[in-house]
Amino acid sequence: MALSAVEVNQLKQAPAVEGVLPVVLARWSARAFADREVSTADLRRVFEAARWAASSFNEQPWRFLVGTRNSLTYKKIFSTLIGFNQGWATAAPVLILGVASTKFAHNGTDNRNALYDLGAAASYLTLQAAALRLTSPQMAGYDQAAARQVLEIPESYALGAVIALGYQGEPSALGNEQLIAMETAARERKPLSEIVLSAWGMPDELG
Ligand SMILES: Cc1cc2nc3c(=O)[nH]c(=O)nc-3n(C[C@H](O)[C@H](O)[C@H](O)COP(=O)(O)O)c2cc1C
Repeated sequence: MALSAVEVNQLKQAPAVEGVLPVVLARWSARAFADREVSTADLRRVFEAARWAASSFNEQPWRFLVGTRNSLTYKKIFSTLIGFNQGWATAAPVLILGVASTKFAHNGTDNRNALYDLGAAASYLTLQAAALRLTSPQMAGYDQAAARQVLEIPESYALGAVIALGYQGEPSALGNEQLIAMETAARERKPLSEIVLSAWGMPDELG
């Protein structure tokens, strides 16, 4: 029998590390959604958080296309998702596509940090979502060319990930063995010794 939403949420929490922001430890990507809409006030909050991310030259190259269920934008974003993602994202009340301007507004030159900055803003968004008890699974699995076309995104904008937003639902509602297994699996991360180096190939003593 599949674990309940409450049990899974418990299982997915990162182990407590003293002094690390609780919301960082609590965020995880639930793909099962409850049948509950996200209020406009909460939507505004997640974008407010994204707005305050740092960016190269304070360019704020990010733009977020947001669609709530049944809206045309929602339908357009959904239509571009790969089948696997459509399988679970169909229950999400909100779909967001993050894009980034690849040219600096002040002089028109290339901004090679555009997607880096969009990723930072998206991270803020997901953390704010977690603070509001919302889940915000991201998706690279969509047809970028189709999204650019149906959403009329100019060539000068690079496409990031699609973000689904909503409240965590019961894993059993996913109705598919593979998805339920993913939803109920423990989370894993590389150790610090692998990702923090004091020189190339040399783990920092931190790890
Ligand atoms: C840029 C990006 C693209 C992703 N693409 C997909 C995707 O297409 N489908 C999916 O089910 N999950 C996708 N994920 C979710 C990751 O698999 C998930 O974040 C990762 O396994 C870590 O799990 P956690 O978010 O619960 O910590 C994506 C995440 C990111 C950040």
